[in-house]
Amino acid sequence: MKNSTNKEIAKGPNLAVDIAGVRFKNPILTASGTFGYGLEFANLMDLNSIGGIVVKGLSMTPIKGNPPPRVYETASGMLNAIGWQNIGATEFVTKKLPGLRNYEAKIVVNIVGFELNDYLEVARFLNDCPGIAALELNISCPNVKKGGYHFNKDPRDAFTVTAETKKASRHLPLWVKLSPNVTDIREFARACQDAGADALSVINTLVGMAIDVKKRRPRLRFLTGGLSGPAIKPVALRMVWEACQAVRIPVIGVGGIASTEDALEFLIAGARAVQIGTANFYQPDVSQRVALGLQEYCRLNHIDDVNEIIGSLQPYE
Ligand SMILES: Cc1cc2nc3c(=O)[nH]c(=O)nc-3n(C[C@H](O)[C@H](O)[C@H](O)COP(=O)(O)O)c2cc1C
Repeated sequence: MKNSTNKEIAKGPNLAVDIAGVRFKNPILTASGTFGYGLEFANLMDLNSIGGIVVKGLSMTPIKGNPPPRVYETASGMLNAIGWQNIGATEFVTKKLPGLRNYEAKIVVNIVGFELNDYLEVARFLNDCPGIAALELNISCPNVKKGGYHFNKDPRDAFTVTAETKKASRHLPLWVKLSPNVTDIREFARACQDAGADALSVINTLVGMAIDVKKRRPRLRFLTGGLSGPAIKPVALRMVWEACQAVRIPVIGVGGIASTEDALEFLIAGARAVQIGTANFYQPDVSQRVALGLQEYCRLNHIDDVNEIIGSLQPYE
């Protein structure tokens, strides 16, 4: 079953997209923090069926993350305050990357940092590791007290961290992941493009909160958390569309995508590719299903190349 699904995707219309010189076999990727380091899903779906995997945000040394409770289900979404729990870049490269190299899905590494130098150190280290297609700079995580998120308060800071990390990442394309918790995402999109970003991932989670009324306590120990899932899709779609209007570099759409139709909305709005996040928690093979659904959509609508769909939003007369 797994193999036949993969063959079907291979012989259909062209689904391949190019992001900063890297060819993804289709525009369906999984989002950082929602798909582990990829290998955990190898028995749940065919990792060869999707274009790419964005792994959990990595720092140079391991981080424990925030204490529980740190996830809470809301109406049509989830709140998380995981923090930057990760195994560290060295363990990722020695224990996870060799296994990931066996798959066609391109590996994008999300990187985190408390300070500018943290990003530079991890970017320099990952540069020399074969099997990584791109870096995704996370300057948009709302669940840490100090660090990346602060680079998203002022476009000038976003410019600086992008420009410096771009130098450090040398030959690896640099994607910058933007926060929705800003007044005008276009200013940040332009600042990152001007600083040399090769692509933008839009969006990270929206800051939210929930209270247990019996205990009169926040549902999350961190108090606030990042809202993700279907609830944020219209916001993400609007911001992807705005970012696409503002920059020339590719934009990757993220936020509430759980079906082929959701993915198509983002592609039509201008996204070069999409990432699926929260939906992986309740439907672990959702990305494979969406990739197959996209192929079916192209076939039924006589579309030879998925790139024809990208940015094809039609205005009213
Ligand atoms: C549990 C959890 C952990 C996450 N960890 C990261 C992370 O390490 N780095 C990052 O850039 N985004 C992280 N995100 C944000 C997602 O990658 C994505 O941008 C967001 O959840 C919106 O997409 P979705 O609605 O499809 O989940 C995380 C999200 C969740 C739910």
